[in-house]
Amino acid sequence: MRKGIAMILALALLLGLTGCSGKQETEKEKDDSSIVVGFSQLGAESSWRIANTASMEQAAKDFGYGLMMENANQKQEKQIDAIRSFIAYQVDVIVFSPIVETGWDNVLKEAKQAGIPVILMDRMINTQDDSLYTAYVGADFYAEGRRAGEYLIRKADALEKAQMRIVEICGTADSTPMRDRQQGFMDVISQDSRFTVIDSVDGDFLRSKGEECMRDLLAKYGSDGFDVVYSHNDAMTLGALDVLEKTEGVPKDLVVITVDGEKDAVDALKAGRINCVVQCTPNLGISVMRLVKELTEGRGVLKTYSPEEGAFTDFDDLTDPRVEGF
Ligand code: AHR
Repeated sequence: MRKGIAMILALALLLGLTGCSGKQETEKEKDDSSIVVGFSQLGAESSWRIANTASMEQAAKDFGYGLMMENANQKQEKQIDAIRSFIAYQVDVIVFSPIVETGWDNVLKEAKQAGIPVILMDRMINTQDDSLYTAYVGADFYAEGRRAGEYLIRKADALEKAQMRIVEICGTADSTPMRDRQQGFMDVISQDSRFTVIDSVDGDFLRSKGEECMRDLLAKYGSDGFDVVYSHNDAMTLGALDVLEKTEGVPKDLVVITVDGEKDAVDALKAGRINCVVQCTPNLGISVMRLVKELTEGRGVLKTYSPEEGAFTDFDDLTDPRVEGF
């Protein structure tokens, strides 16, 4: 703890925001109730994000840390303001989930000058100076994109398709999951002449935009104008399905590939409405708080931590109880 004011704030936060947890022994970690973590969440655009926020709140509680959380409602400026306020409060560690990759250097230089370590949670930044953040905790989005592509190749083989026209519904432009899920997918399928991405549209990870994108795609290409929908998250996929399932003439073997693994998407896979769900876990809180503990105890930490993930597909035994969403 740096200053008296931060100590008072930490106590208030512990009581008011995360509840007074005392010494909980979850994860067998020793708690330290004087530690305050400033957390800038980027928004509440999807079930994934809501589960991710809950995971951070629960983990802070389990470790006995004060969590000072600001939700930026999808605005980078709000995240920058939140980080500046955490610096002013002299929190012990700043955690943030950057909505886009660029535009963070100045505020992160301020955090570095103040001696506050920064953990990037869920999304990366694009910077020439890696010393501006201490660690990244989040998915390997490139591997997720590759998993989607590998599934598609297997599916095309099974359906004995000579050609498949793909429409891609992308997440937020200039965000890490958007870039890497696209790149990983392309790197796998572009080697195979059966596949053509006929359109990539921006759905901003929102269900409402997924619906809108699908309406536009159907208007542009017709109900049988594409064979595959590759959507960068479940929220957009579920929105797109709402439209597709009300449209006449959509081929019965349309292949739908999604990313995340929320309960509604896994249920849709089991019901035959989706073909492949690439997993992306929102449960990053414990890993983040372990890092906070290591950092505040002056220990060295790994620069990158990515959880193990896989995919559920219509090739799997979907009655297996391990096939479940979050
Ligand atoms: O950054 C992770 C992505 O953000 C999730 O896939 C998506 O659902 C969320 O909005």
